[in-house]
Amino acid sequence: MSKLTLKDLDLKNKTVLVRADFNVPQDANLNITDDTRIKATLPTINYILRNGCKKLVLMSHLGRPDGKVVEKYSLKPVAARLQSLLSQPVRFLSDCVGESIKNEVDSAKERVVLLENLRFHAEEEANDPKFAKNLASLADVFVNDAFGTAHRAHASTEGVTHYLKSAAGFLLDKEIQYLGTAVQNPAKPFMVILGGAKVSDKIGVIENLLPKCDAILIGGGMSYTFLKAQGKQIGNSKLEKDKLDLAKGLLDKAVKLKKEIVLPIDHVVVETISPDAKTEIVGENIPDGKIAVDIGPKSIKLFEDKLKTAKTIVWNGPLGIFETDAFAKGTKEIAKFIGSLKATTIIGGGDTAAAVAKFQLEDKMTHISTGGGASLEFLEGKTLPGIAALTDK
Ligand code: 3PG
Repeated sequence: MSKLTLKDLDLKNKTVLVRADFNVPQDANLNITDDTRIKATLPTINYILRNGCKKLVLMSHLGRPDGKVVEKYSLKPVAARLQSLLSQPVRFLSDCVGESIKNEVDSAKERVVLLENLRFHAEEEANDPKFAKNLASLADVFVNDAFGTAHRAHASTEGVTHYLKSAAGFLLDKEIQYLGTAVQNPAKPFMVILGGAKVSDKIGVIENLLPKCDAILIGGGMSYTFLKAQGKQIGNSKLEKDKLDLAKGLLDKAVKLKKEIVLPIDHVVVETISPDAKTEIVGENIPDGKIAVDIGPKSIKLFEDKLKTAKTIVWNGPLGIFETDAFAKGTKEIAKFIGSLKATTIIGGGDTAAAVAKFQLEDKMTHISTGGGASLEFLEGKTLPGIAALTDK
């Protein structure tokens, strides 16, 4: 890591500003339904507290309130959860900048302070320098632990680094280590599993990883456009017509590079997508009027055969509509299978992480990223502004 990390900082008697990604899912009553992202930042928080900081000022966004105060996007429930996870008081402040906030930070008797949602101010996403300077004025040093937001050049991720010495927190560092090794120096055979609804979301990843990996296994909604490009019948399954040429181009490129793109050879199909729809297994070609919702048993077997010798596996995107139990088998079986291997298994955030959590296989994987969009951009080989902006070693 060419950037400063938490252990490079002298924290004694310092006020430390930490950007976390506390953008957590909530139910209609604003109860937090998954606190993985809060728990993932605890090692950084605890280290800072143990190493003699004066104050720890946490900041995050929640949802997309678009520069306005929207009550349901308040970080107050996060403060309560954090307080119980830390077993120590967390002071929640009603805003994130301004003189009164600065005074409250300075005079708070609690050592841990959480600021209100940064995105209640339009200046956050606009990366406004004055807003960034105001955030920076709250502290002596800055730690970015928000991997999930590292692909955004916002005031709290990029802007503040112009005013404070800035280091990566433990979570950010860990994400870079795992995803970085997989992308730059993977143990071979290196297999990539891609799924999810759209080809367009994964083009960058295929372009970047095809030359580096041994094979890309494709399932989920995006696979039907590839199958159509190969001349297969896909019935009424999801098709991105405008991506057919691109899919053909990627299949040709794989042949030129002597890499494999592996597609499903059978499918679970329905007539209409609903949880109680009657399912049926069909072979390579999907008849008219049928919609594929999962990979079939022969495809599961084929994917397992390809994956069994892998030393590194990166997985981004479910292989069917896993949220519905009747369409979840492909995603579940592949998750179980790779969880049983000795390979380094890296799970992209977002839907893939949610699928692994649904099947309670989290502790079978080597690393589950806390970033959805961020892990995708990292796998595309892009420079993430929140990482690039940190102070060089
Ligand atoms: C995420 O959930 O992917 C991150 O918190 C980033 O959120 P955003 O897409 O609203 O910037």
